[in-house]
Amino acid sequence: PLYTWVDQETCIACGVCGATAPSIFDYNDEGIAFAKRDNNQGSTPIKKEEEEDLLDAKEGCPTESIKVMENTNNR
Ligand code: F3S
Repeated sequence: PLYTWVDQETCIACGVCGATAPSIFDYNDEGIAFAKRDNNQGSTPIKKEEEEDLLDAKEGCPTESIKVMENTNNR
């Protein structure tokens, strides 16, 4: 499966990801995005039916802040 997290250092709160993949991304009080299901840890597998939205969000992010991995994030 795919896993995702947002690099909040580079996110500019543009809002594309939450619009494109609302089941995956949400925003904090400053509008900075995070992967909401695992509190941006990149530890919860993305459901198969959500993968297309995830990849669209990744493509649409102007700052390449959406990280997508095939393994859990080991930050
Ligand atoms: Fe931020 Fe990119 Fe989403 S700039 S709000 S992570 S589309």
